[in-house]
Amino acid sequence: MTVSEPAVAVAHPNIALVKYWGKRDEDLVLPFADSLSMTLDVFPTTTAVRLDPAAGADHVVMDGAVARGEVLHRTVRFLELVRERAGRRERAVVDTRNTVPVGAGLASSASGFAALALAAAHAYGLPGDSRALSRLARRGSGSAARSVFGGFVVWQAGTPDAPDPDQDSYAEPVTDARLDAALVAVVLESGPKPVSSREAMRHTVATAAPYRDWLADCRAALVRMREALRGGDMTTVGEIAEHNALGMHAAMEAARPAVRYRTAASDAVLGHVRALREEGVGAWATMDAGPNVKVLCAGADAGRIADRMRAVTGAPVVVARSGPGAGLRAED
Ligand code: DP6
Repeated sequence: MTVSEPAVAVAHPNIALVKYWGKRDEDLVLPFADSLSMTLDVFPTTTAVRLDPAAGADHVVMDGAVARGEVLHRTVRFLELVRERAGRRERAVVDTRNTVPVGAGLASSASGFAALALAAAHAYGLPGDSRALSRLARRGSGSAARSVFGGFVVWQAGTPDAPDPDQDSYAEPVTDARLDAALVAVVLESGPKPVSSREAMRHTVATAAPYRDWLADCRAALVRMREALRGGDMTTVGEIAEHNALGMHAAMEAARPAVRYRTAASDAVLGHVRALREEGVGAWATMDAGPNVKVLCAGADAGRIADRMRAVTGAPVVVARSGPGAGLRAED
């Protein structure tokens, strides 16, 4: 038998406006609280999966280099799950191309596992709708559950006493949002991060006293955020997002020892965002597990905010708008 035709999937990163930080179940990747994000139209990941019945092990290539260590381990574990569900045994050849800088808080694991979930499910003939795909992507990386869908997306945490806890935690699109928002990403660093988000969130949950308050705040923030999206209220969306992100970073920094992704350069950008607001420009900051700052604003303001950020930081700046959900692609 020969190697099968590849299944090729494309997925985009997403940036959370109400963050996911902390798991109530590590193995099933179940979060403590719901989160809400916007899928972007930049930095897609393209993943091809083909089955090789003659191979004794999975072969994973990422951006042209053979994957090893943690990346390989997480990919193989994910493929094992797909094989188990599909009742198949063939090993896979996986070829992934990221256009997002890996590990810099620009969510490469979200686009990565959303694309891998779709390509692998297709290659192994695993049936299921997009909700099933979101649940599957979640097992690879929590935030990947959201990249299955485009636009604004909410990831339901699910309930701890559900009969099958794996089943009721998935993402779905926010269909009643009426807001044209953009994210202006100021790329301060694009190298790998010093501590993985997986490890950092585990450590925050275990050792940071303010984490519980932040989590309670997330639950309320999500309700208000959905209302603000419905009402097209950019200011409220921006305020909630900035408060939520800075609260998450404050909780991490209260961990023992502290987890610190913010750098002096990030703080300087946060200052520039505040200065913009003082001038009456609607701009709010959000940050993930890395030093880069993303400026949330109305779509119509993105161009001039990007120009300002370029001028004051000298750093590369990327304007991202609302992007599509994960999709299959015919191979070139
Ligand atoms: C700060 O989804 O990368 O970006 O589930 O352990 O793979 P794992 O974590 P991951 O964490 C993302 C954290 C965040 C916030 C968010 O995207 O909601």
